[in-house]
Amino acid sequence: RAFTEEQPFRQRLLVVANRLPVSAVREGVDSYHLEISVGGLVSALLGVKEFDTRWIGWPGVNVNDDAGQEALTKALAEMRCVPVFLDEDIVNQYYNGYCNNILWPLFHYLGLPHEDRLATTRSFQSQFDAYKKANQMFADVVNKYYEEGDIVWCHDYHLMFLPKCLKEYNSNMKVGWFLHTPFPSSELHRTLPSRSELLRAVLAADLVGFHTYDYARHFVSACTRILGLEGTPDGVEDQGKLTRVAAFPIGIDSERFIRALELPEVQDRMREMQERFAGRKVMLGIDRLDMIKGIPQKILAFEQFLEENPHWHDKVVLLQIAVPTRTDCPEYQKLTSQVHEIVGRINGRFGTLTAVPIHHLDRSLDFHALCALYAVTGAAQSLGAGALLVNPWNITEVAASIGYALDMPADEREKRHQFNFKHVTTHTSQEWAATFVSELNDTIVEAQLRTKQ
Ligand code: G6P
Repeated sequence: RAFTEEQPFRQRLLVVANRLPVSAVREGVDSYHLEISVGGLVSALLGVKEFDTRWIGWPGVNVNDDAGQEALTKALAEMRCVPVFLDEDIVNQYYNGYCNNILWPLFHYLGLPHEDRLATTRSFQSQFDAYKKANQMFADVVNKYYEEGDIVWCHDYHLMFLPKCLKEYNSNMKVGWFLHTPFPSSELHRTLPSRSELLRAVLAADLVGFHTYDYARHFVSACTRILGLEGTPDGVEDQGKLTRVAAFPIGIDSERFIRALELPEVQDRMREMQERFAGRKVMLGIDRLDMIKGIPQKILAFEQFLEENPHWHDKVVLLQIAVPTRTDCPEYQKLTSQVHEIVGRINGRFGTLTAVPIHHLDRSLDFHALCALYAVTGAAQSLGAGALLVNPWNITEVAASIGYALDMPADEREKRHQFNFKHVTTHTSQEWAATFVSELNDTIVEAQLRTKQ
């Protein structure tokens, strides 16, 4: 709700991302309902309340007729969202193809698809053309809604061309771009046929942000090695024009979770869960069903743990919520069957008449159910001293860590939790967005001063 409230006195922020915070789901030929979208980007940005925000993006369905587009535009306007309508062919080539089959695996070090490299190479150009075309369509909509002084914040690997398109419309637009995935080593980026065009398009932004310092460093190296530009401590310089490059680690809206814990419906669900799993430790995994999340590796490690620790059978359960995603891509369909097969095998091996070791759900859960689950299990992420860090590719190491975590003494658990809790409540999504936008404002003021000198 916070997102949809009018914030007339605050700075206007146009968030441009492929995915809107709500996606339209087709009900009948001409009817849709809106659902909260899943994914890291949406969760982070929903917590951003300091600005008068409008969100521009793809509504998640193909709507070809004018009447349908008008009705959906109206429904989305109530959520302060503006749709960019893309037709089926563009979605296939731009979203399923170039974004999810080429950039996504490459940026996660899975390389370009190998199965039929030649075929990929052939389809590459048409997918890249569709990518540029889609980015231009986003730019057209942004340009229509833009008012002088607005901050335009472009997000993610879907929209690497957008800064360039926007600056071509209006070189005074304040444009930031942030990547929600890793940026790979320049050695990998150089295997991309469109490596230079993409880098140059991103460099049109005033500020370019990454999750970590390493990703920012990889990006700067790619610009120096591939484009021959100069890398400085502040970013990348091209003929006197500086594009600022920096790291802005993301966070969550921690207060929203803390407040939800007080709600009776969340407490009821926590009680239900505690009764349901009484006498058993609950391990919780919540991920989109994506190969980069390592779900098969995780459950294989759990299987090894059960093999090696028979005294834990019946005393521990792995609750894995695997949220379906990008279901039109064959790679994701393959992964789903693979996970089902492994879960079936493990439950067959270690289950009893009354209990199974893995509860696997192929769906998303509402916010209150999620809060209850987090509260019952606690959540450990890559939080330095607080979390148990593992090499996810080494299932023996993961199995040993599962055992360590389950047997951890209460005072160590408490100390680690305190550390994590402090980290999560200090490094929030609000702080992340406020820092990015203020850095973007500063970057522009500095650039104006430099030109005046
Ligand atoms: C990743 C991306 C996000 C995206 C999410 C869901 O986390 O970095 O930008 O929100 O995946 O992906 P989808 O393809 O469903 O938008």
